[in-house]
Amino acid sequence: MSHFAAVPLAPRDPILGVTEAFQQDPRPYKTNLGVGVYQNEQGQIPVLDCVRQVERAIGHDPRPHGYLPIDGFPLYIAAVKALVFGPDAGLVASGRVATLQALGGTGGLRLGAGVLAGFNPRPGVLVSNPSWENHEALFRRAGFRVGHYRYYDPNRHGVDVDGLVADLAAAAPGTIVVLHACCHNPTGYDLRPDDWARVVAVCADRQLMPFLDMAYQGFDRGLNEDAQAIAQFVAADLTFLVATSFSKSLSLYGERVGSINFVTGSADEAARVLSQAKVTARTIYSNPPSFGAKVAAQVLTDPDLRASWETELGQMRDRIKAVRRALRRGLEDRGLNGNFSYITQQTGMFSYSGLTPEQMHRLRDDYAVYGLDSGRLCMAAINHGNIDHVIEAIANVWE
Ligand code: LMR
Repeated sequence: MSHFAAVPLAPRDPILGVTEAFQQDPRPYKTNLGVGVYQNEQGQIPVLDCVRQVERAIGHDPRPHGYLPIDGFPLYIAAVKALVFGPDAGLVASGRVATLQALGGTGGLRLGAGVLAGFNPRPGVLVSNPSWENHEALFRRAGFRVGHYRYYDPNRHGVDVDGLVADLAAAAPGTIVVLHACCHNPTGYDLRPDDWARVVAVCADRQLMPFLDMAYQGFDRGLNEDAQAIAQFVAADLTFLVATSFSKSLSLYGERVGSINFVTGSADEAARVLSQAKVTARTIYSNPPSFGAKVAAQVLTDPDLRASWETELGQMRDRIKAVRRALRRGLEDRGLNGNFSYITQQTGMFSYSGLTPEQMHRLRDDYAVYGLDSGRLCMAAINHGNIDHVIEAIANVWE
């Protein structure tokens, strides 16, 4: 008799499961456009120069591997606050922000969800339609009811801002609204500043609880520019949450370097929220890993390393934009029946291609080009060595 006999088999993860399938594919020309990972022109995940410099310094001066505090490495926490809310934010100085180092952006979302799950009554959650697949899964797993607000309008190839605002206006007070601060995943369509103003206003009117996910800061226009949605929520004096990640922006995927930030109403509130978040962290993983946070803190606070980081981040951003132009041109040159301008209108790592699940399966089965069933393709994994094959494959499944 086994205690596990009745355990059902869970389906593969819709994103990381694609990588699992990709790794088992023996075809040498296979291309993984599934997971959101930036690769350079050589098809490699880059080691950023600023990261390499800190790693060398750490390597030359090994320190004991003690535990970090439950909430994380203090210098990292201070640097994250400055990056997310601005170096001189009065909000931070007044002690109203409780920040914890988290295991990547996902860990930040999960810590936030863990604290909010303690609210009585437990609020509902709204995520965009569509959203990053793990948003819904993660909040459900944490015990929330999850619904959707309108977001992508396939006819207009853009955001249904009126629908989004109407859905938020109809939500119950206290509802948690998960928003993508920049580089919307999966669609690549972001709100403009005046759209954000409408979202901020409806969140204030309806007393909703904004929960911003900022996993791609720096991949649209720049570090400060991509945080402008956060600035609008701060200016409106709302209380809200922000999860962030350095997986993409510092190319530190496997080190799991992220954060959760609770913007509260007072320093006293922040202290109480922090205490609850620490209990959540302690009962899941005790305290976070230290290496990546130490690297990130050093890069963020040393002026030369910081300048080097911003240059390389700009280069990654520009390369993705060049890939978008080349992919669009390549598909247009094939004379296909379709308008491919959306590829260069979208922003961030992804293109929401409009391909159906059947077409995505054909891409995978016939051409070894792996994307998500939703039609999402990772632009950041295309390079001069695989773009012709990707264009050929998309063109062949297009009609
Ligand atoms: C993605 O959307 O592909 C990334 O955020 C990686 C992940 O964890 O899903």
